[in-house]
Amino acid sequence: MSLVPLLSPERGYFPRNVWYIAGFSSELRDKPLARRICGHAVVMFRTAGGRAVALEDRCVHRGMPLSAGERDGDIIRCAYHGLEFDASGACTKIPGQARIPPGARVRSFPLVERDALLWIWPGDQEKADESLIVSRPYHTAPDWACVFGTLEVKANWQLIADNLLNLSHLQYVHKKTIGGDPDADDRAEVTVVRDGNRVRVTRWLLNVEPPPLHRMARGYTGPIDRWQEFEFEPCVLQFHSGAKEAGTGAREGRRDGAMDLRHFHAPTPQGPHSTLYFFTRAHNFRLDDAELTEKMRRSMLATFEEDKAVIEAQQARLLETEDEPLIDLRDDAANLHARRIVRQLMAQEDAAETSGRHLAHA
Ligand code: FES
Ligand SMILES: [Fe+2]
Repeated sequence: MSLVPLLSPERGYFPRNVWYIAGFSSELRDKPLARRICGHAVVMFRTAGGRAVALEDRCVHRGMPLSAGERDGDIIRCAYHGLEFDASGACTKIPGQARIPPGARVRSFPLVERDALLWIWPGDQEKADESLIVSRPYHTAPDWACVFGTLEVKANWQLIADNLLNLSHLQYVHKKTIGGDPDADDRAEVTVVRDGNRVRVTRWLLNVEPPPLHRMARGYTGPIDRWQEFEFEPCVLQFHSGAKEAGTGAREGRRDGAMDLRHFHAPTPQGPHSTLYFFTRAHNFRLDDAELTEKMRRSMLATFEEDKAVIEAQQARLLETEDEPLIDLRDDAANLHARRIVRQLMAQEDAAETSGRHLAHA
């Protein structure tokens, strides 16, 4: 399948009416936070009551980025001529002028803060449905220790999703981190299921050598059974993985005492060939060991730096060779499902927009 239609900016490159991650709760403090999300310049800030809000980062007066301004109670004040905007994007004050002209507002984006994550909706405001956000409690729950990271990747967001949905790269890209025994990866039992707009991948590696991360974190020395359960939904990925001493019943459902990891990945497009890659990883052991948690954070970052190097090199070459064919492998089943889901969502959005335009002209 050619990657071209989804890499071409003119055709659009992401579904608009879905929730994306705009950042982590911990990033939103006193100062406004500027981000490029799905092509939009966005500024986020907290109201006096602590509510997180997102506005277009462009003053309606002369276009100054509002993120350069200051937050003051419930408003953000432009750094150029001092116009003030509230959480809805309405201009509430113009210094030296009583009359606020019609149209004095900036766009606001639905923003929901849940499980230490900031979820943003770049599409039609009236379609933003908070109930679509799946809870990820391990980000804040006391029985998990969670670490957070972000990388800017110079590539289309779907190359990151592809990477996560085809784990046959582990033994080549992640030798130093989570890659394991190459033969074992080749023998992995993989199941791929599409369920509506979700794709689930389950992978079992039985009786394998523990990779460096597992040795460091849990002290495994002998063979282990490993499992990896991925779920993609536009446009985030959840990944549960675990390990237990080989032959102790994990495959049959006895996971007590296992090394459990909960990963969450959100490749949020900035532009067609630029992505903010947010990721988290929670572990359920040695919760009071701050040094281990820091090691887990560093190993997570090292792992995704390895992916970033590959994905950026891949993107650069794909841009030079847009018309050249590519082949698909058996292990691409999940990412082909994911691409189909994304393509269908984008086609539905295009159709709804076209029929909306026709109705408007009727
Ligand atoms: S550009 Fe913002 S107040 Fe003038
Ligand atoms: Fe990877």
